[in-house]
Amino acid sequence: MPSRLAVLASGRGSNLQAIIDHFDGLGQLARVVLVASNRADAPALSKAAKASISTATFIAADDGTQLLALLREHRIDLVVLAGYLKRIPSSVIAAFAGRILNVHPALLPDFGGEGMYGSRVHEAVLAAKAEQTGVTVHLVDDDYDRGPIVARWIVPVLPGDDPASLAARVLEVEHIVYPRAVEMVAALHEHGFVVP
Ligand code: GRF
Repeated sequence: MPSRLAVLASGRGSNLQAIIDHFDGLGQLARVVLVASNRADAPALSKAAKASISTATFIAADDGTQLLALLREHRIDLVVLAGYLKRIPSSVIAAFAGRILNVHPALLPDFGGEGMYGSRVHEAVLAAKAEQTGVTVHLVDDDYDRGPIVARWIVPVLPGDDPASLAARVLEVEHIVYPRAVEMVAALHEHGFVVP
């Protein structure tokens, strides 16, 4: 049975698209069966609809009840955060312990934490004059951007970079790393290797 993935996205959904495309080609291992957003106008929702995937929106102030019901209704195995800007309620983290993944556009634990998203991350990397940045995929727990890391890839910061050029280079790597990290975790789960 393929793992049933829910992707939560608040924005444009380029990682969502990369994940849909990746598992389209692979068939059996996993498939995206639900895309949910806290924003009804998120372009990610139209990307999902175009791929004939069920979509849902839930209110931003949800205490977890609504999201949890949605995940259960769709019999979700793994929750994949892809540009999802809200904190995941504790009840959902508890119910899906070890089964929620996030991608961050820097090398965690650096340049992570509350409020570090979008171009702010790349601005901070440039301000720190870091020579390297990268992509981190991690399991989500109650500690913001601090859950166990499952994949990490270094991306160079080049002379003359601005936040936009850096973001574009990092995003290209996200699109390669994230679908494969999701695939790896789905395969580990299938073999019974679950992180509690
Ligand atoms: C990505 O850079 C991701 O690392 C971060 O939010 C961005 C989402 O982009 N968490 P997209 O919506 O997948 O295009």
